[in-house]
Amino acid sequence: MPTIAIIGATGATGKFVLQGALDRNFSVRVLARTPAKLDHLKDKIEIIKGSVDDLDAMKKLVNGVDVILSTLGTNKKPNYIVEKGVRILLQAIQSSDSKPRFVHMSSVGLGDSKAQCKKSLLWTFIVKVTFPLIGSELFADMQRAEDLIIQAKDVNAIIMRAAILTEKDAKGYQVRLSNEPTGNMFISRRDIAAFMLDAVNDTSYDGKAISLFTA
Ligand SMILES: NC(=O)c1ccc[n+]([C@@H]2O[C@H](COP(=O)([O-])OP(=O)(O)OC[C@H]3O[C@@H](n4cnc5c(N)ncnc54)[C@H](OP(=O)(O)O)[C@@H]3O)[C@@H](O)[C@H]2O)c1
Repeated sequence: MPTIAIIGATGATGKFVLQGALDRNFSVRVLARTPAKLDHLKDKIEIIKGSVDDLDAMKKLVNGVDVILSTLGTNKKPNYIVEKGVRILLQAIQSSDSKPRFVHMSSVGLGDSKAQCKKSLLWTFIVKVTFPLIGSELFADMQRAEDLIIQAKDVNAIIMRAAILTEKDAKGYQVRLSNEPTGNMFISRRDIAAFMLDAVNDTSYDGKAISLFTA
C-alpha cells in the first residue's frame, strides 16, 4: 500500500481526502498546524505539526512518502499561502530521497484553462462579479503556485483545477484538458477527493494540468 502525505487535511475538501485515504487503507501522514483538530483520528494517522512554510516540517512530511495530496488554501486576506507553501514544498520534494509525486489542487480559470473557461457564461459571470468581491489576489496567489510547479525541476506533479465546490454527494468526475470544452462547473468536494485518491495509483495525468468537472 502506498504511503501518502496530505496537506490541508483539516479543511473542507481535505477532510474527504483524509477519510478516503483511510477507507482505501493507505498509510497516511498529515501536516497540521493544529493537530487537536485531528484528535479523533490520531491512532490511525501520523501527524506532523507545523505550517506549510516551515521547511523542516515539510521535509519531515514528505520524506519517504510516495505521493503528496494538497488541498492547501486560505481566503484570509492578506495571508495568502499557496505560493509560499508550494515554494517550500517543492524544495522539500527536491531534497528528498523518495521524490514523491505531487497532486496540487488549484482553480479552473488559471493558466491554460483561462481560454477554456471563457466559453462558459457562468464562469464569465463569476469572474466579473465574484473575483472582485473575494479578491483577485487569491487567484493571483494560486496562479503563482501553478507557475512554480510547472517550472520545478525533478518534480512529478499533477495540477488539478476545480471550479465551484459543493457539499453535495459524489456524482463522479470527468477530466478535461484545457483544449477541451468545460463541463458542469459545480463539483462535489467528495469528487475532488476521489480524483486525488485515484491519482495515487493512476499516473496518466502526471506532468499535466487538468480541469475536473462533474460527470
Ligand atoms: N471554494 C471553491 O469553490 C474553490 C474552487 C477551486 C479551488 N479552490 C481552492 O482549493 C483549495 C482548497 O479549498 P478548501 O475549501 O478545501 O479550503 P479550506 O477549507 O480553507 O482548507 C484549507 C486547508 O489548508 C490548510 N492551511 C492553510 N494555511 C496553512 C498553513 N500555513 N500550513 C498548513 N496548512 C495550512 C488549512 O489548515 P487549518 O485547519 O490549520 O486552517 C486547511 O486544512 C483552496 O486553495 C481554494 O482556494 C476553491
